[in-house]
Amino acid sequence: MSSGHKILEKNISLMAVLIVIAVSIGGLIEILPLIFNEPRQPAEGVRPYPALELAGRDVYVSEGCYNCHSQMVRPFRSEIERYGAYSVAGESVYDRPFQWGSKRTGPDLARVGGRYSDEWHVIHLNNPRDVVPESNMPGYPWLAENPVDAATIQLRMRALQRLGDPYTDEEIEAAAADVAGKTEMDALVAYLQGLGRARSGR
Ligand code: HEC
Repeated sequence: MSSGHKILEKNISLMAVLIVIAVSIGGLIEILPLIFNEPRQPAEGVRPYPALELAGRDVYVSEGCYNCHSQMVRPFRSEIERYGAYSVAGESVYDRPFQWGSKRTGPDLARVGGRYSDEWHVIHLNNPRDVVPESNMPGYPWLAENPVDAATIQLRMRALQRLGDPYTDEEIEAAAADVAGKTEMDALVAYLQGLGRARSGR
């Protein structure tokens, strides 16, 4: 054993100081890039949610769909073959809160947009067993009866605009017409159909 090592092993204060230095270097290497990186760069083709999809996202969160579904394709071959391109951070810049995670009672939904027809989703959300007999997903029949509230969506868009999402005033103005007469079912299906399309190329 070298004499330097011997000294270090017997001198706990010196050892503590060196440990602090080693841990600080490791910490700085992890933390500094987060401070200096350009924050929240959207991935190519990713845009803020249109009004109806934004309303659908609210339904998704309030109904707790995330308790069984993640929206994060991990960079493993098995996942890419099953779901499509792996998820990148830039896809979630307009997600508050983001839907990454590992809870997979049901399949990952990050790439579900365009996989099924709108009609399939309506039947499935109404009673999943009508299309997937062995499904244990609950039905959400009431969504078809709840109207989307235009005023709430406009307030949500204004708040997101203030946080830096590039909504124009015209888009916010037009949101009332975009969601007029729509139900929460329409909104949720629009949201699901938009998921991951920028990167899955569907
Ligand atoms: C109790 C767990 C659970 C909850 C809560 C749940 N799901 Fe599911 N979901 C599943 C399971 C299991 C499947 C696979 C069987 C099937 O297709 O029904 C599934 C399948 C799906 C699929 C088809 C995915 C594919 O690639 O085939 C979609 C879309 C979906 N769920 C949307 C939702 C939405 C939207 C909500 C919230 C309104 C929701 N789920 C809530 C368990 C759940």
